[in-house]
Amino acid sequence: MELLGRRTQVIKLFLVLVVVGLLRGAESRTTMKFESLEYTAISCRAHSASLTEFGGVGDGKSSNTKAFQAAISQLSQYASEGGAQLFVPAGKWLTGSFNLISHFTLYLHKDAVLLASQDVNEWPVLKPLPSYGRGRDAAAGRFSSLIFGTNLTDVIVTGDNGTIDGQGEFWWQQFHKKKLKYTRPYLIEIMFSTDIQISNLTLRDSPSWNVHPVYSSNILVQGITVIAPITSPNTDGINPDSCTNTRIEDCYIVSGDDCVAVKSGWDEYGIAFGRPTKQLVIRRLTCISPYSATIALGSEMSGGIQDVRAEDIVAINTESGIRIKTAVGRGGYVKDIYVRRMTMHTMKWVFKMNGDYGSHADGKYDKNAVPEIKGINYRDMVADNVTIAARLEGIADHPFTGICISNVTIGLAAKAKKQPWTCTDIEGITSGVTPSPCDLLPDQGPKATACNFPADDLPIDLVELKQCTYRMSYL
Ligand SMILES: *[C@@H]1O[C@H](CO)[C@@H](O)[C@H](O)[C@H]1NC(C)=O
Ligand SMILES: *[C@@H]1O[C@H](CO)[C@@H](O)[C@H](O)[C@H]1NC(C)=O
Ligand SMILES: *[C@@H]1O[C@H](CO)[C@@H](O)[C@H](O)[C@H]1NC(C)=O
Ligand SMILES: *[C@@H]1O[C@H](CO)[C@@H](O)[C@H](O)[C@H]1NC(C)=O
Ligand SMILES: *[C@@H]1O[C@H](CO)[C@@H](O)[C@H](O)[C@H]1NC(C)=O
Repeated sequence: MELLGRRTQVIKLFLVLVVVGLLRGAESRTTMKFESLEYTAISCRAHSASLTEFGGVGDGKSSNTKAFQAAISQLSQYASEGGAQLFVPAGKWLTGSFNLISHFTLYLHKDAVLLASQDVNEWPVLKPLPSYGRGRDAAAGRFSSLIFGTNLTDVIVTGDNGTIDGQGEFWWQQFHKKKLKYTRPYLIEIMFSTDIQISNLTLRDSPSWNVHPVYSSNILVQGITVIAPITSPNTDGINPDSCTNTRIEDCYIVSGDDCVAVKSGWDEYGIAFGRPTKQLVIRRLTCISPYSATIALGSEMSGGIQDVRAEDIVAINTESGIRIKTAVGRGGYVKDIYVRRMTMHTMKWVFKMNGDYGSHADGKYDKNAVPEIKGINYRDMVADNVTIAARLEGIADHPFTGICISNVTIGLAAKAKKQPWTCTDIEGITSGVTPSPCDLLPDQGPKATACNFPADDLPIDLVELKQCTYRMSYL
């Protein structure tokens, strides 16, 4: 039945096209295009349509915001009938912010480029995030992300490495000149949602953060390339924020801020909201970020961060390898962190921890809200051309505890600092680490300890992707 129905639809569409073609005559030849798509996804959709069927124009000049909105609104009727895919063909599609729906896939052709509009009227303003209390750039609201979704289930943004270009220069200028009334938009933000896939895309020149899943669970981020100038402000790669069960893998990130920044809300707002980021796996990440971290935990971590597993990470010309950023007033915790098999070339610090990061939402933070940092495990790493092996600074009278570092070889640069390790207010052990660590992390000998790394899978590791096949015809 379903097949027959679809075949009739295709035949009908074809007849309509022939008639349209005849009516228009030779001067504007409308050619039908065919496309077959094959890719893996958490769900395949029963219905598919092209942006061009909703008035989309891929000339790089016409605004497609209304076409995206119309398409998504139309396709929402299929949510309970197998869901829908919106296909974006090759072309340059200028657009402002638009919202996703449940049981929906946005698919970008390999030569499709979404160009983010520079007209602020194309960007609705949202309230600050409840766990942050205010915007990052300005106290008032925040511009909605280019691709935004809230309260969704089963949503996919993917493509054959198609591009989303944030045209960030305009926003970076406004930010530097302190002209922004609202916080800059992100490229993709999905909140209060479950079953999310963001994969096989190139994200370029975001106005600010690139991918921001927040208050969500069951999230797969795979095959994302992020490219932004290394001096661009706050162009974080992927920021899981108050999320559970997230898998980030096979990503390549060059940016002006942390490649992956794990977060969970800011000071008293984050404490009150109380939603941690936990069960996070990061694997096969390559990072280039000379002024920031490969993986940062914080600084906004007031809802807590627990059970992060990172492995097979490459950092090149990056400021730090793993960085924990926090401050008195944050509250919350960072615990059960496991990192192994990291290779680093040209780093300022391999390991960094700061208990005095500062940067408060406002003056109302609780001076008794001391974050708890414990159970931090790093092993099997090699680094070369390093300026300082580690700078680990806890909080006076509230040391960071349970730090374990094993089988780590750090080659120092010719111009390295004389003292490779600086440690204050921390407790832990090391085993087989060169150069010789600080006294607060006594070396147990090369064979004494392998720091923990969990052997079990997280639920997100067991998600099975389906092979989806679409044969499409469109104008
Ligand atoms: C989305 O879900 C959150 C949390 O459950 C709720 O507070 C909010 O009102 C919902 N928003 C919409 C637009 O439904
Ligand atoms: C995707 O495109 C980017 C930018 O052109 C490129 O660097 C990257 O290698 C591509 N990824 C894949 C998997 O083809
Ligand atoms: C992304 O692309 C790669 C390489 O083409 C493919 O193996 C993988 O299945 C894709 N993943 C997703 C989730 O789209
Ligand atoms: C030490 O780490 C290296 C990778 O940096 C790895 O090849 C080696 O197997 C590790 N040794 C042990 C004993 O685990
Ligand atoms: C080592 O790092 C310095 C910057 O700290 C850089 O200029 C130099 O090219 C690097 N050397 C190698 C061999 O990568």
